[in-house]
Amino acid sequence: MSFLTLQGISKRYGDFTAIEHLDLSVERGEFLSLLGPSGCGKTTTLQMIAGFVSPSGGRVTLDGRDITHERPEKRGMGVVFQSYALFPHMTVAGNVGFGLEMRKMKRAQRAERVAEALALVRLSGLDTRYPKELSGGQRQRVAIARAIAMRPELLLLDEPMSNLDAKLREEMHIELRAIQKRLGITTILVTHDQVEAMTMSDRIAVMHGGRIAQLSTPFDAYERPATPFASTFLGRTNTLAGEVLRRNPRCAEVAVASTTLHVPHEGREVAGAVNVYIRPEKMRLANGSGEARVQGRVTTRVFVGNQWLLVVDTELGKLHIAQSNIGAPPPEEGHEVGIAWTDDDLRVLTREGAHGHA
Ligand SMILES: Nc1ncnc2c1ncn2[C@@H]1O[C@H](COP(=O)(O)OP(=O)(O)O)[C@@H](O)[C@H]1O
Ligand SMILES: [Mg+2]
Repeated sequence: MSFLTLQGISKRYGDFTAIEHLDLSVERGEFLSLLGPSGCGKTTTLQMIAGFVSPSGGRVTLDGRDITHERPEKRGMGVVFQSYALFPHMTVAGNVGFGLEMRKMKRAQRAERVAEALALVRLSGLDTRYPKELSGGQRQRVAIARAIAMRPELLLLDEPMSNLDAKLREEMHIELRAIQKRLGITTILVTHDQVEAMTMSDRIAVMHGGRIAQLSTPFDAYERPATPFASTFLGRTNTLAGEVLRRNPRCAEVAVASTTLHVPHEGREVAGAVNVYIRPEKMRLANGSGEARVQGRVTTRVFVGNQWLLVVDTELGKLHIAQSNIGAPPPEEGHEVGIAWTDDDLRVLTREGAHGHA
């Protein structure tokens, strides 16, 4: 049995259903992210795991034991919530070491743990500061250090890095993931930041409207989105509306404008009105007209450092293309270009509302 399981968990507030019959299993040592837009039910789900919100239905088990109605402090989880307050009258070191002191850990060992946790979150040297002398981001990091220092069996993080600036956040992603792996702490992270989820997770649960739309590795979530929502939420993509003409053993023939695209369907039933998806980085400017699948005119050309972002007006619609910044700059706005791609990089899903739903 998995380390943590949610079985048919739901949460209603009056007649509003925030979480609808959600099943989830998390393995020991795993790093799993709940990823989705604001309001999709991430925090509610995490709070039910922590025990601060009680489910309207379903069951939660931890290491084989039913904890559905167990009090939060009995669960032994480490929690870092968005608004999880520090003790204002205690220093940074006091806050981080407080739980260890309660556990009667010896002073020397405690000091070592506190120093290690503060180094992880890049706050060494601020041990004697008080919370009111810290920035919002620094306070968030103290809360993370406090949770890590306890070495909990299960660590729950709710947007713990939302107040950090981009560079520090990137460093923390890598470091937190490394220490999580080293200590083997099973971790569930709530985030709306897809890069954060992809960088850190073994698996990502993409949430949408109180349900899990897709549960997979970061690579599969990006490369093989299972629903139209997941396709557009994770990363950028071009969406082409089409109509299935024929379903062959390996690919579907899809009419988009006056072109027929051959799209791998990966065993899925696709019929009628569909969307064809292709990522901007999977399209390229054609070398000569022989390679071009469609012609168009560059309407926007933007340089963002590592890449050029182009918008090209074609008969398939406006296509967004990302081209690595290697070699010469791409043609300027107003120029005619040919666009090429590999059919294996196309994805197809039945359109939302057209046939079942996401
Ligand atoms: N205590 C509450 N009472 C009523 N509605 C709530 C309560 N808590 C959350 N909700 C609603 O449940 C939905 C999910 O909220 P939440 O889990 O906080 O989303 P997320 O963390 O993904 O942004 C939202 O529509 C929110 O307004
Ligand atoms: Mg939230």
